[in-house]
Amino acid sequence: MKIKSQILILDFGGQTANLIARRVRELGVYSEIALPDASTEKLKEACGIILSGSPYSITDKNLKFNPEVFKLGIPLLGICYGHQLMAKELGGRIGRAGTREFGKTELELEREEGLFQGTPEKQVVWMSHYDQVTEMPAGFELLATTRECRVAAMGDHGRKYYGVQFHPEVAHTEFGMEMIANFVFDVCKCEKNWSVQGYLKREIESIRKRAGKKKVLLLASGGVDSTVVLALLSRALPKEQVFALHIDTGFMRKNETTIIEKTLRKLDLAELHVVDASREFLSALKNVVEPEEKRKIIGRIFVDITKREIEQAGVEENNWFLAQGTIYPDTIETARTKHSDKIKTHHNRVEQIVKMIELGNVIEPLEQLYKDEVRELGKELGLPSELVWRHPFPGPGLAIRALCSDGKKEKSKSLIEAGKKASKKARELGFSLKILPVKSVGVQADLRTYAHPALLEGECDWEKLEKTSTMLTNEFSEINRVVFAVKPRVDSVKLVKATLTKKRLNLLREADAIVHEEIKKAGLYKSIWQFPVVLLPLNVNSEGEAIVLRPVKSREAMTAEFFRLEREVLKKIAERILELQGVGAVFFDITNKPPATIEWE
Ligand code: XMP
Repeated sequence: MKIKSQILILDFGGQTANLIARRVRELGVYSEIALPDASTEKLKEACGIILSGSPYSITDKNLKFNPEVFKLGIPLLGICYGHQLMAKELGGRIGRAGTREFGKTELELEREEGLFQGTPEKQVVWMSHYDQVTEMPAGFELLATTRECRVAAMGDHGRKYYGVQFHPEVAHTEFGMEMIANFVFDVCKCEKNWSVQGYLKREIESIRKRAGKKKVLLLASGGVDSTVVLALLSRALPKEQVFALHIDTGFMRKNETTIIEKTLRKLDLAELHVVDASREFLSALKNVVEPEEKRKIIGRIFVDITKREIEQAGVEENNWFLAQGTIYPDTIETARTKHSDKIKTHHNRVEQIVKMIELGNVIEPLEQLYKDEVRELGKELGLPSELVWRHPFPGPGLAIRALCSDGKKEKSKSLIEAGKKASKKARELGFSLKILPVKSVGVQADLRTYAHPALLEGECDWEKLEKTSTMLTNEFSEINRVVFAVKPRVDSVKLVKATLTKKRLNLLREADAIVHEEIKKAGLYKSIWQFPVVLLPLNVNSEGEAIVLRPVKSREAMTAEFFRLEREVLKKIAERILELQGVGAVFFDITNKPPATIEWE
């Protein structure tokens, strides 16, 4: 349920727009994200409005917004693009800065009050801009500057309008949280109204109201998101009204469906149906190699099966709701926010589901939340801790971790050139390099990339590897991911034609099972946020395909760092995986997000 939005964030498409909402909630105040052209009615609900950053430059593109935002007398905070928009709309000027400021910089305060109350005169902030405010609008005074940017912060205390060129929402901005708190509490006079308990109460009421007497079908994957929704539904509605459907896609982990069925039956929160649809999925994906196509087909089949099952249960068409455990990153990555780029289509955001959402037939109580907030809810709902702390697993499962190929190698001149130059650079840092003839998805400067991984061989020194990986992805647009060859030495790599077959899926399933067994044994399961295991359609040393290990540390899945696995554990995992027939090599992904996404497809 949407409660009165204490702080409304207008999302101009910047990658950290969602983080602003998150920070406000961390302060105990409810916040929501809306498009910049949100209705005046929506704007009026807020005690304060924050205008986000954007991947666009204000001098190149004017994004559509509701101009009423500057007329309603509601306190405003503009960040980066939002700061410049405010200046431009209220009569100031914007210009190109001589030097682009990117990363950490020192801010010097002119006035230690309002937004900056209680923060030091000199402090570190995080910048990323080319344009800047060159002339403030009438009524504004200068609040802070940096070396390259005179109007780093400005304010009109009378109207309660503030603008900052830097990003207070990112962790690198030392006193960012204090600034947001000053805006939220001192300027907007918000009251604390956000807590897990309060959220639960409101969502339960909202579900009751929306569902009425209609059946609610939940796709229960067994992961924390859908199980939390199941627990919420079971608190809100009588048991016979909730129908949980677990679909075995054939892309699950080893024994996963059996374990999930057992767990869900034990929880006994709703009527549970388990459907084995592995044949249907596999046959629809028989010759499909393109990742987005795979994702769309999988999403469509999920919907087809759901509709079939509900019909078989005797429920009239359109007389039911679909409930999903969608969380915020699923929405943003599928470009469901207007100004963001599509990174990948999440299974719960395919065309068929979007249509159902537009018809008002989908219930998604977690859609504004992040994984760690969902886990908090799960704890509050009393779900067992093994379930709350399960690693995330994508809906399309192993289907998007077994990369496929038509066997045709890309031979562009620029790629060959990049390979030569990158090899030279890597050699200077002590590594030998090969560009792999496969592609994976990345996210760079808020945009989707689909480019090649580079393979490094040399000493397993995480520090040096990370530095080299960052250098390569920064300097070569042909490379968006870097892997390290764990075992064995790679003499030859050939791209092979490969599709989704039972054999390949079983091989990946076994490798994945080994990884999970070993990290649990080593007591690392909880320190690692997620550990995808990926199969590449390559023939290495004429021995077999390559398995990539992709453990990451993350908080909200929007950014991630590769996890520096202990050498002994890595060695053990690699040795065991290499014993599997059909595996020619084990690689380790040493790319952060950005530039690479967590999953390869
Ligand atoms: P990426 O790979 O984009 O993923 O960094 C971020 C998080 O989302 C998960 N993921 C999905 N989850 N359906 C899901 O429920 C999907 O289609 C999907 N695709 C990616 C991914 O595993 C990671 O945790």
